[in-house]
Formats: sequence, C-alpha cells, structure tokens
Amino acid sequence: MATKLETETLIEVLRDADRIAVLTGAGISAESGIPTFRDKNGLWKKFRPEELATPTAFNQNPRLVWEWYDWRRGIIAQKEPNPGHKVLARWEKIFPALSLITQNIDGLHQKAGSRNILELHGNIWKLRCTKEGTITENYETPLKDIPPLCSGCGAILRPHVVWFGESLSSTILQKAFLLSSQCEVMFVVGTSAVVQPAASLPFEASEAGAKIVEINPDPTPLSPYIDFSFRGKAGEILPLIDKDLKRKSTAQKE
Ligand code: APR
Repeated sequence: MATKLETETLIEVLRDADRIAVLTGAGISAESGIPTFRDKNGLWKKFRPEELATPTAFNQNPRLVWEWYDWRRGIIAQKEPNPGHKVLARWEKIFPALSLITQNIDGLHQKAGSRNILELHGNIWKLRCTKEGTITENYETPLKDIPPLCSGCGAILRPHVVWFGESLSSTILQKAFLLSSQCEVMFVVGTSAVVQPAASLPFEASEAGAKIVEINPDPTPLSPYIDFSFRGKAGEILPLIDKDLKRKSTAQKE
C-alpha cells in the first residue's frame, strides 16, 4: 500500500503531468454491484465463457447467448456509477489530456459523465447487425425479442462486444497504444491484467517513461512493475487521491 510520502509524491507527479491515461476493468464497477469476471463470485466462476462469449457459441445458440446478455443488461440497468467512476469524470475536466481506456462494456463511465472514453471491448447497450454490420443503441430491459432482429434486413443482431477469439477494433486499439505511449502517468484500476491486448497497455506506457499507478485490492501480474500501488477498492482510493489533489491545489493558491 502506498505510504503517505508515496501518495504525496504521486500528487506532485500528477500536478506536473498533462497527459494522464486510465485503464479500467470490471473491478471499478464492483462497488456499483456489477459482478467482475474472475473474482470468487465472478461471472466466469458461474458461467462458461466458451458457451456464452464466443462467436461459435453465438452461431450455435444465439438464444442462449442473448438470454445471458439480456440478464446482464437487466442487472447493469439498475446500477449507478460509484465514487470511483465519478472521480475519473471530474479528472477529465481538471487534467488537460486525460484518456479513459476501459475494458468494461457496462457504460457506467458515460453515466458518470466521462466523455473521452475508448471502449476496448465494446458496449452492452449497442447491438450490431450480423449481416449489414450496422450498430444501434438499445436500452430495452428486458429485450422485447430474443434474439433481437435487424429492423433493416431482418438478420439477427448480436451484442456489439468483443468475444473471446475475436479481434478488437484496430482503430480503437491503435489509439489505445498511442495514448499509452504518450501518457506521463497511467492509472490501472480494477483489472486482473491477464486479458490481452489490454494487459499490454501499462507496459507500453511504462516503456515510454510513464509512472504506473495500480489500484486493486489484490495483486496482479502487473504489480511487480508498477510505481505506486494502492491495495484497496477503487471507489475508496480514487476519492482519497482526489481529496489530496484538491487539498494541494487549494494550498498552492493560498
Ligand atoms: N476496486 C478495484 N479493483 C477491484 C475491486 C474494487 N472494488 N473489486 C475487485 N477488483 C479487482 C480484482 O481484484 C481483479 O483483479 O478487479 C479485477 C477484476 O478482474 P477481472 O474480473 O478479470 O476483470 P477484467 O480485468 O476487467 O477482465 C478483463 O476479461 O472476461 C473478459 O472481456 C472481459 O473485459 C473483460 C476482460
């Protein structure tokens, strides 16, 4: 856990930094009541990703896959951003160039007011036509039709998310690596840092000279390589760092 001195050093680093990148994972939404994937009560402890989150699974049984996504949409629709999401939305206004790179598909960063977001793994509120590729937003919970069909061509719609075995959008990925290589500080919040290519972004940043800050109650494969480690919950740690940041900027003005 970062000591008081380390936190003060981090605040100094942040005050001198212009370009900040934040990589988030399911852990930042845990305090909002959305299950993570790999924690003890995580989704992948209860469900088999190969049956629910692969293109093969969808082709074999689109109804089963859609019932699962409809269930997740139902949960997420009732959840609100927590203080962790809100601090990042505030930082977007106070730091000249803050980039939020998320693995989350829940849309809670947007709900908290963040705007400059790169969604690496898509968004559960977006549907994509399997024939035309058109993407539409849909917030129906529960979905009227399972599987939902394209209003244009009648083909099955799929969740606009990245499944295992699928590539990420090359445009989004290139931008994520570029922002990582240009940032001066990267926060890595609530990710187990095991899923590629997202898990490589902190190394891209570190190799380019950025300071890496990890916020996670548990250690990850990234932990040995970071500069500032906060062992705790994002919804508690981010407000603490933000408070120190505010206090420092007020002190400077006086
Ligand atoms: N605050 C911060 N971190 C937390 C909190 C919290 N309140 N609660 C749990 N965590 C941490 C866990 O310790 C764990 O390291 O969040 C991490 C969640 O890890 P995963 O469940 O593996 O989620 P994530 O890293 O986002 O998964 C990456 O895998 O399943 C795919 O596409 C899916 O985007 C997802 C990707």
